[in-house]
Amino acid sequence: MSSSPVIELIREKLDIVDVVRDYVPALKKAGKNYTAPCPFHNEKTPSFNVSPDKQFFYCFGCSEGGDVFTFLMKIEGITFPEAARKLAAKAGVEYGDERSHAMTEDDKERLELKKMLKHAAAFYHSSLFSPAGEKARLYLGERRLSKTTVERFELGWAPAGGSALMDELKEKGWSRDLAVKAGLVTEREGGRVGDTFRGRIMFPILNQAGDTVAFGGRVLDPEAKPKYLNSPETVLFSKRRTLYGLHEALPQIRKTGKLLLLEGYMDVIGAHQHGVDWAVAPLGTNLTVEHAGLIRRYAKDTVVMFDDDRAGIQASVRAAEIFMEAGLYVRLASLANGQDPDEYLNDHGREEFEKKLVEAADPLDFRMNLFFKGRKTPPTSQEKAQAIAVLLETVAKQPDEILKSEWVKSLSTRFGVEEASVLKQLRKAPLPAPAEGKRGAALAVKAIPALERGFVQLLLREPALIEQAAALEPEDFTSPLARRLFDALRALPAAERAKAPTALAAEFPEDAALVMELAVTDLGGEITGAQNAAAAIKRLKRLSLERRLKELKAAGPMDPQQLKEYSRLMSELKSSVKEL
Ligand code: UTP
Ligand code: MN
Repeated sequence: MSSSPVIELIREKLDIVDVVRDYVPALKKAGKNYTAPCPFHNEKTPSFNVSPDKQFFYCFGCSEGGDVFTFLMKIEGITFPEAARKLAAKAGVEYGDERSHAMTEDDKERLELKKMLKHAAAFYHSSLFSPAGEKARLYLGERRLSKTTVERFELGWAPAGGSALMDELKEKGWSRDLAVKAGLVTEREGGRVGDTFRGRIMFPILNQAGDTVAFGGRVLDPEAKPKYLNSPETVLFSKRRTLYGLHEALPQIRKTGKLLLLEGYMDVIGAHQHGVDWAVAPLGTNLTVEHAGLIRRYAKDTVVMFDDDRAGIQASVRAAEIFMEAGLYVRLASLANGQDPDEYLNDHGREEFEKKLVEAADPLDFRMNLFFKGRKTPPTSQEKAQAIAVLLETVAKQPDEILKSEWVKSLSTRFGVEEASVLKQLRKAPLPAPAEGKRGAALAVKAIPALERGFVQLLLREPALIEQAAALEPEDFTSPLARRLFDALRALPAAERAKAPTALAAEFPEDAALVMELAVTDLGGEITGAQNAAAAIKRLKRLSLERRLKELKAAGPMDPQQLKEYSRLMSELKSSVKEL
């Protein structure tokens, strides 16, 4: 992220609490921090924290966090320069032209890539309305998309010739290298390059903030392969983290906490056209844990509705398990007539469609329904035992203990077997990974030895102290988490130290809650100030030396090399004790 004197001045003049309060009037003082129900996801109890000391915010529920600039970018869905401009106005700071500010090379490149992708979307869109786009226009008409919808999703047409877009980009002054980086142009045999998308209906893919970051392209010719082509992974685009339609659906999802996960581009677009504007879809991949993490920020109640075929049913069961493991409430819906959501909506309308959503079953019921569907005779004991064993995999993944016991009950009722034997069987099912979240984070943090914890905590708050810790190595920490964080703090460029907690949370998304717990919570026994830091460093080193000596001794007779190591460690230990 950019830093410059102007940015620093804005930071100095503004209090994050005031900025957040403009958007979150419910913000209340609680101890050193301020809390409120999170504006980034739907919740009743406040997990959203703002720290006036550190000038950052963090939500324990959805793991959103950052400084005042990040807050504005996320809440308004705008880019850094836009946020900076707004904050400058609020702070009464002269902002001037964004190009005059110091930006890192990476920032500049990303900005340029976004501009190029936006231009490409406009180019494809206008080509759809040119004579060359006639067939594509007719096709979209056959799919019953209105002009408004086509415009809202900025659908386009990639001309069939090999270099129409490349020529256009060149004319606008963009380099071939940058076009390759954007994924718009691809190197082909013999070092020649050409348009990635040719003769395809184009679906711009936006990130949450509304920047165009990639494209999906659908063939017109039913024989051509692949049916859908997606942009390659780029610095702006990761398929695993992107949901099609999220930007368009966010206002509605934020309002109700409800999200509808469909299978593809056309389903999402069709849904929005019919007013079902909380629909999103993954991009031709299975649902990933990253997707679930993203969804958790915004939605409490997710309904998955994939195509009503074998692949769709399997994919929805798998998606449900990923959601459950992420601690998300999810239900599965099915149209049960072989139609795609998009076709169904066109034929039956929104009301009928929404009935299907209301009927959505929890993952266990969904799977039991599949088992009993179309069965004329009751299952044999053996069939029951097999089915229960398979269904228990879903039950075992349910992190909510109350729901889990409800599921055990409903399994035993529906199959007509003793609850006790279902329970016994459940204990044999493979255990899922422990649930994370705030409680888990607090426990994990308490599990770090006090000295290591206090020291890492100090570093998170005063990252410049790392300069004094040159003598320490990651191996000097016994806790793997402390080790990882120390290593990452050491590697952090000096310019990024001011926002160490958010930088680390971003680097280790799975530990984000832990990092923030360490950074914002008073755990007691904290180490403060540079002097104490020096003492803590010495103690950490000494303890580590003692540990290693003990390990060497315990390993039995030493070879010459180990003996040498032993005496080296010994003398190091002696001198460290002397210094105390
Ligand atoms: P479908 O084949 O079900 O396509 O793939 P669809 O969305 O119903 O499209 P229409 O209705 O035929 O136009 C579902 C999703 O899987 C991904 C796309 O994201 C698609 O929307 N997909 C499919 C690919 O990425 N590549 C493919 O070759 C096919
Ligand atoms: Mn379809």
